[in-house]
Amino acid sequence: MESTPAAWSQTDAFLAETLVGHDPALEAALTAQREAGLPEIEVAPVAGKLLDLLVRISGARRVLEIGTLGGYSTIWMARAVGPHGRVVTIEAEADNAAVARASIDAAGVGDRVDIRVGRGADVLPTLDGEFDLVFIDADKESNTIYLDWAARLGRPGTVIVLDNIGREGEIVREDSTDSKVDGTRDGLRMLGDDPRFDATALQTVGAKGWDGVALALVV
Ligand code: DHB
Ligand code: MG
Repeated sequence: MESTPAAWSQTDAFLAETLVGHDPALEAALTAQREAGLPEIEVAPVAGKLLDLLVRISGARRVLEIGTLGGYSTIWMARAVGPHGRVVTIEAEADNAAVARASIDAAGVGDRVDIRVGRGADVLPTLDGEFDLVFIDADKESNTIYLDWAARLGRPGTVIVLDNIGREGEIVREDSTDSKVDGTRDGLRMLGDDPRFDATALQTVGAKGWDGVALALVV
């Protein structure tokens, strides 16, 4: 087998089939998102399950998500926090938030999810912590702002998950002119340099191409 994007996708499909399975509410959320014309850039099923496991392993009850999109990852985490948990999720686009609201409610976890519509940089200062886990999956240009707020709204022990750190390997191209690449690289440098964090990152290949995720602990 050659290591090609097609092979990565097939392998991801096998892993999802074998380890994640099918779920009507999650799949309905993806259908609703597609039918509404939202970009299909939600986390892969295996990554949704990773978020679920990280929430449960850390015992997180208060989760903050930056970047709701159609609510797919939100549903994963809202289930994981359990009936007494809470997810606050920030979405810049009101149309996306409406799609997410309907899917989250249809999944039966609407009472645990508070969607705040607005740009992260505007909404974050209005939130009260503490959050036990923060998932950052929004505009990459603002990653350092989001990481700063994740630390401020967290506590020692808060888990931070930062999506899309791979960017097809572009992060090592010093001459890149892509602002998403710059934002991703700046976020990773902050995780490495800022004493509030202990972090690592894992590259992934799969349904989303060559990508990856950073994991950090607020220390
Ligand atoms: C992009 C954003 C994402 O959150 C993602 O998972 C994949 C791609 C993007 O903006 O390019
Ligand atoms: Mg993402």
